Formats: sequence, structure tokens, C-alpha cells
Amino acid sequence: MKSLEIQSKTRVYKVEIENNILDHLDKYLNPSFRYVIISDDHIPIKYIEKVQKACPNNLLILFPEGEKSKSIEQFSRITELMLEKNIKKDSTIIALGGGVTGDLAGFVASVYLRGIDYIQIPTTLLSQIDSSVGGKVAINSSQGKNVIGSFYPPRLVLIDPKTLDTLSPRQFSNGMAEMIKYGMIADKSLFDKIKNENVKDHLDHYIFRSLEIKKDFVEKDEFDNGLRQSLNFGHTFGHAIESYYHYDKYLHGEAIAIGMVMVLSKPEIRKELIEVLKKYYLPTEDSAKISDLKEYVNRDKKNRNELLNIVDVLEIGSCVITKSQFQL
Ligand SMILES: NC(=O)c1ccc[n+]([C@@H]2O[C@H](COP(=O)([O-])OP(=O)(O)OC[C@H]3O[C@@H](n4cnc5c(N)ncnc54)[C@H](O)[C@@H]3O)[C@@H](O)[C@H]2O)c1
Repeated sequence: MKSLEIQSKTRVYKVEIENNILDHLDKYLNPSFRYVIISDDHIPIKYIEKVQKACPNNLLILFPEGEKSKSIEQFSRITELMLEKNIKKDSTIIALGGGVTGDLAGFVASVYLRGIDYIQIPTTLLSQIDSSVGGKVAINSSQGKNVIGSFYPPRLVLIDPKTLDTLSPRQFSNGMAEMIKYGMIADKSLFDKIKNENVKDHLDHYIFRSLEIKKDFVEKDEFDNGLRQSLNFGHTFGHAIESYYHYDKYLHGEAIAIGMVMVLSKPEIRKELIEVLKKYYLPTEDSAKISDLKEYVNRDKKNRNELLNIVDVLEIGSCVITKSQFQL
């Protein structure tokens, strides 16, 4: 079992990483408390049953799987349902699933009755190494991704790497894009291990190391005003690609993979990155032209007073943020 403690401005919370942690959730949940389990309709039912067993007094709310559910409509449906069922302020939401579930359920928790507790139980590689930690919660609008959201840390994060056994190969690769990102921006030896070893042999180790890196950035800049933007390496173009294709063509990590390749200024670094992305069956380019993406990239720009922050890697294991107008 591995454990991390994340210091946020509003609370300190633990991240527990343990194979089969879902089989002894009674250690973490109180059977007499009221819980709202929020999950999507593609999560293997056995995980839902394990959580329900540990908290019999639960309300289960399922939503259609996929990015399109990070929407005002689903947010509204879930909150109305919780109000109808008389869910009170002392109840706790459990976000059981991938990053979509965590972002949506976390956003509901952040505003429901002006904020209730929530626990993250991430079940995709992407959510285990990234989205479940750091407190960013959000939904999308027709105007862009994650544009309605808040910073709202969970009470607890419980990670069971064994849940990844049922993940599709494509979803596994999707998460690998974010792990490769951590290696690129912060840890050359992680990058080399990802390149040379079989990550699946020691998944708990890789998840832990990824989260140590994320913890470091988040604790130094929780509200994303400077250093934390390093985690956005590849995301400016990645988000633009996702939006350009209306979230249909690529998964989040796949779009980030292309975005990382696009933004690198040094050809030799790009070559190394492409090699590793290919090892994990990730795309490295797309036929959309930069001019096609301009509109979507500029939306990010507007959020930062016309200045677009670009994260570049000049040497694997570290990164630089250039606050400049990106000429498109
Ligand atoms: N908040 C953050 O800091 C942050 C960071 C990175 C990404 N994100 C967000 O995360 C989202 C993407 O998350 P995702 O990639 O996890 O997608 P996802 O939540 O849509 O999950 C992917 C698919 O895997 C299925 N699934 C989940 N767990 C499974 C399991 N154990 N076995 C089999 N199937 C399983 C789901 O039902 C879904 O169909 C994006 O919306 C992105 O913006 C947020």
C-alpha cells in the first residue's frame, strides 16, 4: 500500500493506492452515513456493487458515459435528483469512475448546498494518475472545455490499480499520455522507464510516482496561476483538437499526445517523444491544420488576457513556460 498526503489551502487529504482496496472499503466509509454514488453507465457493475456493499445507505446516480456528459444538462439532472431525494449537507458524494465522473461529480459536490464532501474512487489510468488529485472540477459548455468549474479538493482519494484490469487497451493508452507528460516535464528517469520497461508490471509504482509529481505542482500553485500550468504541456492544442472534433474523434489523452508533439520546439525532443507515444499506440499527428485550430486555441488565449501560455520541453525532465503570443 502506498499513501500520499496532499496539502491544499482548504484541506489536507489522503490518496491511498492499494491493489484490491475496493474489497475493504469499510475501512474508509461509514456504513451509517448517507452516500451518493455517481458513476457512468459503462463502469463494470462489480465496482459499483463493491462500493454499495460498503455503504448500504446509498443513492446511485448513473449518467451516460463519455465526455458529452460533462454538461450543464447532466449537472442539472443530478443536482435536481439529489434535491428530490432529500440529500442533505452531511452526505458525501462518491465519484466512482474515470475523469469524466470525477470532474462532473466533483463539480456537483462543489456547489450542491454550497458544497458537500466527496470522495474520488478513480477507475481509469488517466483518472488514477491525474484527474482525481488536485481539486480541479468542471463541466464543459458549447463555448469550450472545462469552462464552468471550480477548485474543490476531495476528502479522500482511493485508488485500486486492479480496476485497470478491465480497462480497454485504448483507454489504458489514453492514460499513458498523461504519464508520458509527467516524464517529459518533470522526471527523465520516469520517461526512460516508460520507454524501456513494461509499465503494467509495476503499475502501483508508476501511479504513485505520477501522483508525487502532480502533488508537487499542485501544492506549489494550487490555483493554477504559474507553475501548475506546466501540467498543461500539450493541453492548449490538445483541448483545441478535442473541441474541433466535438469530442468525437479522440480521447482526451490521445488529443494531448498530438498536442505535445505540436508544441515542442526542438526536433530531437519531438523525435524521442514520438517514439514513446508510438510504443503506447498513441497518435502523434492529425490532419487538422493549425489554422483550423486557431479559433479554439484563441479561446484559451482570451482567458489569459490575450497572452497564451505555452509549455515547452527543451530537455526531457524539465519544462519552460513561455508567456507569449503564439503566432498561428
Ligand atoms: N480535473 C482534472 O484535473 C483533470 C485532469 C485530466 C483530465 N481530466 C478530465 O478527465 C476526463 C477524461 O477522463 P477518462 O479518460 O478517465 O474518461 P472517462 O471518465 O470517460 O472514462 C473512460 C471510459 O472508461 C470506462 N471505465 C472507467 N473505468 C473503467 C474500468 N475500470 N474498466 C472498464 N471501463 C472503465 C468509462 O465507463 C468510460 O467509458 C476529461 O473530461 C478530462 O478533461 C480532468
